[in-house]
Amino acid sequence: MKILKNISLKNYNTFGIDVKAKFFCEVNTLKELKYVFNLNEYSNRFIISGGSNILFTSDIDALVIHINIKGKEIIKEDDDFIWLKVMAGENWHELVLWCVNNEYGGLENMSLIPGNVGTAPIQNIGAYGVELKDNFVSCKALHTLSGELHNFTKEDCKFNYRDSFFKNEGKNKFIITSIVLKLSKKNHLLKISYGSIESELAKNKINQPTIKDISNAVITIRKSKLPDPKQLGNSGSFFKNPIVDKLVFDKFIEKNPAAPFYKLSDATYKIPAGWLIEQCGFKGKRDGDAGVHINQALVLVNYGNATGKEILELSRKIQKSVLDNFNINIQAEVNIIK
Ligand code: EPU
Repeated sequence: MKILKNISLKNYNTFGIDVKAKFFCEVNTLKELKYVFNLNEYSNRFIISGGSNILFTSDIDALVIHINIKGKEIIKEDDDFIWLKVMAGENWHELVLWCVNNEYGGLENMSLIPGNVGTAPIQNIGAYGVELKDNFVSCKALHTLSGELHNFTKEDCKFNYRDSFFKNEGKNKFIITSIVLKLSKKNHLLKISYGSIESELAKNKINQPTIKDISNAVITIRKSKLPDPKQLGNSGSFFKNPIVDKLVFDKFIEKNPAAPFYKLSDATYKIPAGWLIEQCGFKGKRDGDAGVHINQALVLVNYGNATGKEILELSRKIQKSVLDNFNINIQAEVNIIK
């Protein structure tokens, strides 16, 4: 394993931001990861995996460790389910396709989400009515101080909407090395009522969808709205959809009767940030190379050479405008590295 110097991270983050790592190395095994943590001369470390939920705003004065640990294994099986262990460096979408092609159900609604397996639990990735937590059993993570591997059950992870233990108390303290998922072998629990999955299936005259049909529908829908990071730098949704209490919601909906919303409980409502941002006139807007995607206002994009600071500035303008117009605070979902 080589430690490199002054390496551009442009190809290691889906926003395509060109910052430099003072030192850089790639780890391919757990052993290499442990080894690198024992090197005292690099006490300042920064972990990167798929780089799909990160905005770099300056050079990284640390040893950047790229987690590239691969592998998957069925560790347990019964008539109905498999328990699949997947290493952190596996690409998420490739895993979903592998499951769909092998008739293992559960992940199909989360097709085409960028990023790697190891970062999926950090923000409890989700799409089209399914979140990682719905199939999650446990994960292993290296404690950055002791260098020991810890096991986390689903409860330990404290999953919530785009949130987990690893984004809060556990932030920067653990490196997820593998996860275990429980997937169905038959009688799959299909979720087709969310978003436009149903209409996409109907368009193709599919009445009894398979998990492959659902995956294909999600891929088509995502491709129509969300930019491909390989063609246009982005990190998916830049903001979280705000969750407001009933008092705020009642006032909001009285003034904006046409606004879309999801009722989460009698006391809480989720309002799509994309709608709020579009109403503020930002959809398709561009400040230099930093912009708001033309088909989905929740996604900020890098048209080529935007700096992280420029994207951050645009995001702040959007937050201010949404606050001024709707009195609602929207928060970044993307991890902003200052
Ligand atoms: N909307 C607008 N204008 C926009 C975007 C959205 O009016 O520019 C409206 C839509 O018309 C719709 C509502 O907002 O009524 C919701 O839009 P959409 O179904 O596209 O979903 P979203 O709430 O914007 C969330 C996730 C996405 C996920 C989709 C589908 C968050 C932060 N984002 O987006 O996740 O793919 O639902 O499940 O929860 C990601 O996290 O990176 C991501 C892409």
